Parts: sequence; C-alpha cells; structure tokens
Amino acid sequence: MTSWKSFRKEPIRGRRKSISSGIPSLTSEQRTDFSFTGFDENLLDVSEVMIEQAVGYFGVPLGLAGPFTIDGREIRIPMATEEPSVVAAASFAGRLLSKHGGINTQSTEPVMVAQVFLEGKLNPSSTEKVLNARNSIKEHLQRTLESMESRGGGWRDISARWIAPSRTLSVNIQIDVRDSMGANLLNSVAEKVSPILERITGGKVLMAILSNKSWDRTASARLSIPIDEFGGAGFNGKETARRIVRAARIAREDPDRAITHNKGIMNGISALALATGNDTRAIEASVHAYAARYGHYHALSQYWVEENTLHGSLELPLPFAVTGGAVGFHPSSRWCLDQLGNPDGPGLSRIAAALGLAQNLAALRALVCEGIQKGHMNFHARRLAYKAGARGDCISAFATVICSENIRSYEEASQRFTSWTEQVDVET
Ligand code: MEV
Repeated sequence: MTSWKSFRKEPIRGRRKSISSGIPSLTSEQRTDFSFTGFDENLLDVSEVMIEQAVGYFGVPLGLAGPFTIDGREIRIPMATEEPSVVAAASFAGRLLSKHGGINTQSTEPVMVAQVFLEGKLNPSSTEKVLNARNSIKEHLQRTLESMESRGGGWRDISARWIAPSRTLSVNIQIDVRDSMGANLLNSVAEKVSPILERITGGKVLMAILSNKSWDRTASARLSIPIDEFGGAGFNGKETARRIVRAARIAREDPDRAITHNKGIMNGISALALATGNDTRAIEASVHAYAARYGHYHALSQYWVEENTLHGSLELPLPFAVTGGAVGFHPSSRWCLDQLGNPDGPGLSRIAAALGLAQNLAALRALVCEGIQKGHMNFHARRLAYKAGARGDCISAFATVICSENIRSYEEASQRFTSWTEQVDVET
C-alpha cells in the first residue's frame, strides 16, 4: 500500500496508480481512474522529466493565430491560452494590419544580469574594489562563459551598488545570453564569481542569483493603419481612431486602467511564451516592473493619429529563448518554433512584441466600439453546448441554437440539448 511519503519517489505511472487506488487517505472524489483520461504516453514521460511528482499534464488549447505580416514576412503565431477570443482577436488585428504593411519590429541585444549580494565588513567604497578588479573577475569567469562567448554572447560589463539601508553590496554582472533565457548560465556565473568577490571585498556572500529585471533585453513593435479602414459599430474610422488614442492615453494616466490594458497585451505574449515553452513568469515579472519604471504603473503601448493614419507602438522587456529549459525540449514547443520559421532569441522576442501590439489594438478597438462582451457570447455558447453534452460537430450546431434562443444557464442548455438531439435524430 502506498503512502504520500513514498509517492514522491515513485515513477509517474506508479504515482498515477497510487492516486487511483493506492493511497488510503484519499477520498472517493480524489481517486481518479487515469485510464479514462486518454493521456499520451510520450507526454507522460516528458512530464516526468520536466517536473517532480508529476502525475500527468494539463492540456491548454493551442491556436495558430494570423496571418500576421511582421517585418515583411507572413507568419502564423502559435498561442497556448485558456481564454476565449484571444486568438480570434489577435488574428483579426493581424489580418487587418497585414493589408497595410503589417507590423515592424526591433530588438536590443539579449543582455541579462547576474546578481551577487554581499554583507559583513563592507562600506560604500567596497564598490570601487569590485570595479578595480573588473579584469580579474572577467578572467575568473572565462571557463563558465566559454561556450556562450563562442556563440557571440558572454561577458558585457560589471557594476556595483551600495544598498545603504541594509548595508549590502550588490554586484551586477551583465551577460549576453544570445538564444537562451539565461537563467542557468546567470546563476552559474553568480555562484562562480562569489568566492572571488568575497576575497576582493572582505564581505560574505548572502545570495547569488539572476535578476529577472531584463530591461536591457527589450523588443519594440510599430504599426500604422489608414483610419478609413478602421470603423466599427456605428463609428467611422476617424472617430474609432480618436477613441483608441484616447483609451490608450487614459491607460497611461490611470494605473487602474493600465493594469487591464497591459494584461490585454500579455494575453498575446504569455500565450506565445507558453506555446514555445518559455518562462511566462519571468516575462510577466519583467514586463510589469517595466510598466512602473517611472514611479507609477502605466500603459506600455501608445497610439496617435497623423495625417489620417493611426500609429501604434509598444516597447517592453522580452526575455524569450529558443533553446534551454522546456524550450525546444517539449515536443509542442519544438513544433511551435518550427511554425515560426525557427527564429533566434531576439527574433522570437520581436514576434512577441508584434503579437502584443496586435492583441492590444484588437482589444482597444472592441472596447471603444461594440464592447468586448459581444465577442465573448459566442464562446460562452460553445462552452455551454459542450457542458450540456454536445461533442464534435454538434458543438457548433448546438451553440447556434443557444445563441438564437438566448439560452443562458447550464440547466436550460442541458434540457434543450435533450430535445434538440431527439429532433436531430428524427430529421436524420
Ligand atoms: C481581456 O482578457 C483583455 C482586455 O480586458 C484588455 C483591455 O481591456 O485592454 C479586453
């Protein structure tokens, strides 16, 4: 008989067996017969090697949004998301913008920071000791950075800062991490350099870790669209563009609105991050901190009208990788990178910036024209149809019934589904 104590040490299939029958403390609701859940055997193995105590994997829908034209190239963007209408909205903007030259992007070099914090017998002038030893610190890291240097990345710079309130010396080492997210390398750099920093400063290392700030690793996107193309819900193009510009301005001035505005941008970016196996939390943490870099939280995008053209731009830190961790290792991630034409790290971050801007434009347009609930109703109807029992082709057909009869609740949908299937059976 299995216990929770030995659960951790079992292989994934053993853990699954334990959950269905082996652990006595589980209630009948918690027991699951995994044989009914149709898990893919290969993905079980992938899950087993990706995390500890895996018992399965969570299937999030994967969409292929687009077409987008980004820097003159037509692509479709894989997006993994649980939120209805995100893929449809991005595709709407992608299609519209593609008719007018698409989205243009830029990115910086992928430079990240490893941090070491020292305490003990230190003072503000300890910073100078670190800077004076710059060359020997760099030399000390040669072996650790060899492979990254051979790929064009590696050492960039070092800085030191005295944190007065806690009397701490913070040392930041800048590393170009090329196509990787960089977490492993940066953590190795931080740990490797710790003893030498102790010798140089006379302090003691408290901790050594990368910084997820990533502000030296930004990507930006820019769009332009003739305003005549842009009307909706009774508003002409000029008025729609004016409303979008105003909505974006409000999001720069009102932090409460900015949070939702930026969340909409991240609907696209996080979905691409998840689809490609990237670290969604690292990206989100960095982006939201960037949005508050002037002391108050504000919108990351801007819109303006010039000579009958609506312009939009977005700039944000995007530590996207195309290798390392789950990226390229998870079979879905590999497939998604193939769909994108296997960009390099900065290339993927530029696609992410373009997607974020497209997602934002679609959200703002919907918000200031018809409102977003209208678009959501159709998805709600499809979910209701599924919950009521519809499967396969019946989902769309029954969702149409739900919409046309304005069915709102599960109970109503479920009752109606019974009579609807009887009626369909008679007709066929
Ligand atoms: C919903 O997930 C995203 C929006 O709220 C974004 C926005 O308000 O800009 C529609």
